[in-house]
Amino acid sequence: MYRSIFAQALFKDQVVIVTGGGSGIGRCVAHELAALGAVVALVGRTPEKLAAVQAEIAAAGGRSDAYPCNIRDEEGVKALVARVLERHGRIDGLVNNAGGQFPAPLKDISLKGWEAVLQTNLTGGFLMARECLNQAMAASGGAIVNIVADMWGGMPNMGHSGAARAGMVNFTETAAFEWAQYGVRVNAVAPGYVASSGMDAYPPAMHQTIREFPQTVPLKRFGTEAEVSAAIVFLLSGAASFITGTTLRVDGGRPNVRPGMPMPEMRNPAEPFNGFHLATLPKILQDGGAS
Ligand code: ADE
Repeated sequence: MYRSIFAQALFKDQVVIVTGGGSGIGRCVAHELAALGAVVALVGRTPEKLAAVQAEIAAAGGRSDAYPCNIRDEEGVKALVARVLERHGRIDGLVNNAGGQFPAPLKDISLKGWEAVLQTNLTGGFLMARECLNQAMAASGGAIVNIVADMWGGMPNMGHSGAARAGMVNFTETAAFEWAQYGVRVNAVAPGYVASSGMDAYPPAMHQTIREFPQTVPLKRFGTEAEVSAAIVFLLSGAASFITGTTLRVDGGRPNVRPGMPMPEMRNPAEPFNGFHLATLPKILQDGGAS
């Protein structure tokens, strides 16, 4: 079972949509929410990946169902939210986690590539949030958590993603104001370098750079998926009832590093929080993994 720090039935019978639920952080938070009693609506483009996570959650005694959908497609998003409502009669939470990008310097990004990344990481999240608000949450309240990234101060070689994630932070702030009247809280979580399956999608030329990321992090390690999930679950929960419009960084202090300021040695490394029973290291971080 998932080893959550939260109370066992915290989300009992609540319906929470998790986009990008077929892998990585989305899969992890879907497991944690299901372990806490939620019915999780898994959204993603690949039905096989969603079915696999659904089976894992069922094996752990949890409840979920799968909704294959491309979040860039407005009609598809409208229909998906309507189907979740039809099946369950309510939507209490949305984790806007689906995302993706490809590494490239700005000068080499085509209009098509730029728009694709903006659509996935900004427009898709807006469509999901808007539909959840208009179809369900404006009447019954709810909580939305947008997953962004450590793009503070720029995101070299990921400029399209950085621009989209920064846009999502501002969207979070506007939505927090406009939707507070409906009892809807809107927050974001910004993960830094997290050991997650997404790391294996990067080209071999980047693998060594990725392995060296922890040297640039004050806490001197990668984060775990469960550490990000715990932040998301907190923001969805009643314990965060007075929190809206904020972005919670989960990044080991990476943006607090100052150029020219020597990085101190780590003297007392703390144990990572590893509550996810099915967590595995991405291949590029395993001993003898892909190089
Ligand atoms: N995960 C990554 N990109 C996605 C998309 N466009 N739709 C749904 N899930 C996704």
